[in-house]
Amino acid sequence: MLPEGTREVLLTEAQIAARIQELGQLISDDYAGKNLLLIGVLKGSFIFLADLVRNISIPLTIDFVTLSSYGDSTTSSGNVKIIESLRANVSGQHVVVVEDIVDTGWTLSMSRILEDLHSGNAASVKVCTLLDKRCRREVDVPVDYVGFEIEDRFVVGFGMDFDGLFRSLPMIAALDEKTTL
Ligand code: PRP
Repeated sequence: MLPEGTREVLLTEAQIAARIQELGQLISDDYAGKNLLLIGVLKGSFIFLADLVRNISIPLTIDFVTLSSYGDSTTSSGNVKIIESLRANVSGQHVVVVEDIVDTGWTLSMSRILEDLHSGNAASVKVCTLLDKRCRREVDVPVDYVGFEIEDRFVVGFGMDFDGLFRSLPMIAALDEKTTL
């Protein structure tokens, strides 16, 4: 059943849950015996992060940064705002930055979050994203764990929004071109 305002379900709840279970297992294996810190990039990552951590079987800590690039538009502005920066001491921590989607790459690149983590003496820094829209990349950012690679559609749900709405959809859907808010 398609939620109102959306055109096509791209990923169902079951598909997303199964992939997050696999990612959780991978991360649990890769970081066994290490100090693992997951940093969620808000707002979009909040649902993915919540599900991911419950599929990781090793001890971990969590922090958040709030970055924003899109404003009210459906295309990246390349204008990244740091709304709230990191609080955790990352020294000696093996950090995984958690994103809902990497699109142009500008958010991770312009925020300089990865550089800041390295200069804060993180033991290692990796990126985990639920969605990778690699076909739209404008700047090269390292992405180490990918849930799904997707084509160039504007997607909503599972934390991702259009003008603040649709984040609560349990599936990932393409937005209907006719949607106006
Ligand atoms: C989205 C998403 C990523 C970014 C990816 O954030 O959460 O942070 O866009 O796009 P990019 O690779 O083209 O920079 P958005 O700015 O929409 O804010 P939000 O997380 O609060 O929805």
